[in-house]
Amino acid sequence: MRKKIVAGNWKMNKNFTEGLALFSEVMHMANDELHNNQQVIVCSPYLHLHSLVQLSKGNVKVAVGAQNCYQAESGAFTGEISADMLASAGVQYVIIGHSERRQYFGETNATCAEKINIALKHNLKPIYCIGETLQQRESATHFDIIKSQIAEATYHLSEQEFAKIIIAYEPVWAIGTGVTASSAQAQEIHAFIRKEIAWQYNVAMADEISILYGGSCNPKNADELFAQADIDGGLIGGASLKSRDFIDIAKAFN
Ligand code: PGA
Repeated sequence: MRKKIVAGNWKMNKNFTEGLALFSEVMHMANDELHNNQQVIVCSPYLHLHSLVQLSKGNVKVAVGAQNCYQAESGAFTGEISADMLASAGVQYVIIGHSERRQYFGETNATCAEKINIALKHNLKPIYCIGETLQQRESATHFDIIKSQIAEATYHLSEQEFAKIIIAYEPVWAIGTGVTASSAQAQEIHAFIRKEIAWQYNVAMADEISILYGGSCNPKNADELFAQADIDGGLIGGASLKSRDFIDIAKAFN
């Protein structure tokens, strides 16, 4: 059975003190209220990562992820962070290719491929983000866009490597806008992604991979979204900044 995953993406929010307090609340609520087959991942800014890993030591329900890493092993890349550094701090997951990284920092499918490679090399599990813009959906090119986002960043991977990836479908028009994809729209794309993976790899692989939905997910709409056959959880932005809302979203699986 595929693991049920709810990942929080704090983006550039919460100072150090606020972040530690939020994480402690999330951990307590997760311990008290979530089932064992549910994985909560908190993707904080780099600043908090090491402390959050320490706080969550031995906790199987809550894990820690970064929001990005650089594609080179090390060197003169002022302001960047390496996969090796993240792994050495005990971080387990890393978001790759979030639409904000693509939009504001020029990331492409090709750079995502490099980032996925280096993340896997250091045993970090990539949460690879894909999704179309409103314009692409309106011009009915969204299936092609999604197909190329997956193919160009991941199809060079061996089966063994691909099996370690989590995919997050986040329609750009639904991120931070309050507009959610309908559960039918999200399910349609998730099923399409799974079919593409079955085609490229095999059916067993397609059945194994967790595909998360992201974009204005909240405690009210999570039930219906997560009830869809091919939606295995969510990547949560705004609502992950409130412990109660974040855990209530995870409880949509209970
Ligand atoms: P949102 O963000 O939940 O605030 O729409 C989701 C994301 O960007 O991962």
